[in-house]
Amino acid sequence: MVINMVMTQEMMDGIEKDNVVFLATATTDGTPNVVPIGFARPIDEKTILLVDNYMNKTRKNLEDNPKASLVPRDATKCPYQFKGTVEIHTSGKLFDDAVDWATSVMSKLAPKAAVLLNVEEIYTVQPGPNAGSKVD
Ligand SMILES: Cc1cc2nc3c(=O)[nH]c(=O)nc-3n(C[C@H](O)[C@H](O)[C@H](O)COP(=O)(O)O)c2cc1C
Repeated sequence: MVINMVMTQEMMDGIEKDNVVFLATATTDGTPNVVPIGFARPIDEKTILLVDNYMNKTRKNLEDNPKASLVPRDATKCPYQFKGTVEIHTSGKLFDDAVDWATSVMSKLAPKAAVLLNVEEIYTVQPGPNAGSKVD
């Protein structure tokens, strides 16, 4: 049985307050791609919502290979790497909520999808002897 990691309140607050995360995806043949994403916030202790407004290679990668990883922009304040599998919602309540959030911040946005990262693993990136180890 796989037991997925859950985010602590401190981690969730860190992501929410930072405003930008760096989201890494990969093609099926392993070419990496990383982009800054401003509309990123935890919606519960296991899930991070990302709003697809302008994703291009990122979206294609996620459709072909739903694995993703992200770090908050200011990893000095939130020194964690989150990894998991995404679900892409282009209709329904989660999509509607994503549209409401994005358009309430920037009315000209027309979100294409709510991308939900189901967090499966969390690692510390804090410099030092434990850097890169799994949080448990
Ligand atoms: C500060 C910043 C915040 C951004 N926020 C978002 C976002 O919330 N959603 C989004 O779809 N694209 C966002 N972008 C655009 C993406 O970073 C990127 O340009 C887009 O995904 C296309 O790149 P790709 O082809 O690698 O996917 C943002 C860009 C910057 C510079």
